[in-house]
Amino acid sequence: MKICVVGTGYVGLVTGACLAHKGHFVTCVDSDPKKIESLEKGKIPIYEPGLESIVKNCDGKTLFFSTSLASAIKDAEVAFIAVGTPPQKNGDADLSYVEQAAKQIADLADHSLVVVQKSTVPPKTGYRLQELFKAHPNHSNLSLASNPEFLREGTAVSDFLNPDRIVIGTGSKAAQEKMHDVYSVFSAPIIFTDIPSAELIKYASNAFLALKISYANFLAEYCERIGANIDDVVLGMGSDPRIGNRFLNAGIGYGGSCFPKDVSAFVSITKEAGLNPVLLSETEAINKRQRKRFAEKIKSFFKDLNGKTIGVLGLAFKPETDDLREAPSLDIIPFLLSQGAKVKVFDPVAMDNAKPVLSKAVFCSNTDEAVSGCDALVLLTEWNEFKKMDLKKIKSLLKQPVFFDGRNVFKPSEMNKAGFTYISMGRKVE
Ligand code: UGA
Repeated sequence: MKICVVGTGYVGLVTGACLAHKGHFVTCVDSDPKKIESLEKGKIPIYEPGLESIVKNCDGKTLFFSTSLASAIKDAEVAFIAVGTPPQKNGDADLSYVEQAAKQIADLADHSLVVVQKSTVPPKTGYRLQELFKAHPNHSNLSLASNPEFLREGTAVSDFLNPDRIVIGTGSKAAQEKMHDVYSVFSAPIIFTDIPSAELIKYASNAFLALKISYANFLAEYCERIGANIDDVVLGMGSDPRIGNRFLNAGIGYGGSCFPKDVSAFVSITKEAGLNPVLLSETEAINKRQRKRFAEKIKSFFKDLNGKTIGVLGLAFKPETDDLREAPSLDIIPFLLSQGAKVKVFDPVAMDNAKPVLSKAVFCSNTDEAVSGCDALVLLTEWNEFKKMDLKKIKSLLKQPVFFDGRNVFKPSEMNKAGFTYISMGRKVE
């Protein structure tokens, strides 16, 4: 099938590349000529394991890049909209890029076309697009579907290629059949719904996962008060298949471009509908509090951070990505700096993105350099290479063997045995 994807951000590029990998003929369109030029050369603007090789394999065979929407739409049967919906000051999603893309597609739709809205948008946005289409001279050619995306950064390609479910919201039989054909090359179940339900599934899923993390973090804080152990508590809870053990890791909380933005937008849209979303606002409050509590633990350990040198491992909001958006490092490092500490940092892939936003930190070229001579080591992102580091060597490089673990990666008993003063989240200090 000939498919056009508008927007070459995370979702657009992964969608286009993976659909091309599955055998569809896909043209990815972006208005930024520099982006398209570098994609044509096989350069991927984001760090995403597996994406580059798929793009290289499909490029020029089933995958094409263009700045011209007109030529990409020409023979397309389906046009995906995968443009940004950045948060506005009040937390609402900015829908202007989605509406602009829908209008441009409608202007060019001189043949039957299913327009698929993939960006995360508040429920009923699809209805707004349908109104826009109804008033358009090409309206009889256009039908709309909502197809939210559930991929995670760092595992986006395998998430897209092996989905748990595919959600399609549409009121059009033609769109339903066409979308069935698009996804017939996948083995996951397809859930067909109306448009607002599909749109809501995305917010409902992200907010629930964020809530799960915040619940674990709330329990972690309580564990600290009563001397219980969060690892045992979530193991005991998560072993109940009705609860499940995923997304229950306590620590410094969630970041990224999705959970913070989507929970905040969900608060705003449910308020607009007359609800009182305390459950969601408390999810946000707990998440903010965890970062603060962690930073305060470092401060209160030293009493005065002035003149201390702190080594920080991990800057990205999670492993396997260079993304720093809403990362805990962006709150914790400026706090340490504001308290007079010198902060040496290292991340395996996020250094270039971090340099402009954490300009007062000292950027090191590897773990050993970041650790050397420090009064304490702070772990903010659980990259595999940090999980596997040689603790004996780390201890010998530190000025004092003090370790603050924001991701609860290590076992307190083992760290104590290795001679560290080890401070983490929600665990008994042994
Ligand atoms: C999230 C969702 O998991 C995807 O399903 C969704 O498609 C995506 O948002 C989106 O809306 O586009 P992502 O933001 O890439 O994906 O990252 P996650 O792996 O979900 O992690 C989010 C944050 O939660 C990270 O900062 C991670 O460190 C944190 N986290 C995760 C915890 O603190 N504890 C956990 O147990 C799990």
